[in-house]
Amino acid sequence: MITDPIQTFNEWYEAACASKKIIDPTAMVIASGKRDGSVDARVVLLKKVTSRGFYFVSNYESSKARDFEANSHVAVVFHWDALEQQIRIRGQIQKASVEFSDTYFQSRSRDSQLGAWASAQSQPIATREVLIDAMESVRAQFEGQPVPRPPHWGGYCIEPDAIEFWRGQPNRLHDRHVYSRVDDTWEACRLSP
Ligand SMILES: Cc1cc2nc3c(=O)[nH]c(=O)nc-3n(C[C@H](O)[C@H](O)[C@H](O)COP(=O)(O)O)c2cc1C
Repeated sequence: MITDPIQTFNEWYEAACASKKIIDPTAMVIASGKRDGSVDARVVLLKKVTSRGFYFVSNYESSKARDFEANSHVAVVFHWDALEQQIRIRGQIQKASVEFSDTYFQSRSRDSQLGAWASAQSQPIATREVLIDAMESVRAQFEGQPVPRPPHWGGYCIEPDAIEFWRGQPNRLHDRHVYSRVDDTWEACRLSP
């Protein structure tokens, strides 16, 4: 068995892409905990994986951002239905580096960059027109110049403590392997399905 779960993740991810059966293998559900003990979850898109962890981008003033400040423990699920695969990650979330956030922001389309300025993610808005007006307003504001990364927008890195790989098998005798971080190494264990 491979002892580096990041390597296993990359192999599964590349196979999911190659299969062309998964519309968006980067889609993952991330669950967070709130200060009052309640929990929440939503889909975000994976942007990068390194030995440090799993990166996505978001709004630093969103509801999830407030959760991450209150409780840095998160859980993530990838479900690749057509391949009968699930990957679960538990870990700690940290903001990504400024370099990551800047580089990723600059790689986005101009409209996506403007959208990051226009949308106060998770805040109530009266109508869709309010959002469209905000977009036109920032479009005019940055006319003829590069769009800088908003201070309220950037990357997060989920640093894994445990990663579980689940693969469907006949008779519900599915394969489950969980890797737990122990100091700087990973311990692997097979779990009953
Ligand atoms: C397919 C899909 C991909 C999404 N990707 C992102 C993403 O990468 N980053 C993000 O902040 N929100 C993304 N969203 C929106 C989130 O699911 C969520 O609605 C938003 O981040 C607000 O969540 P919050 O109020 O819990 O902060 C995506 C939604 C869907 C359905």
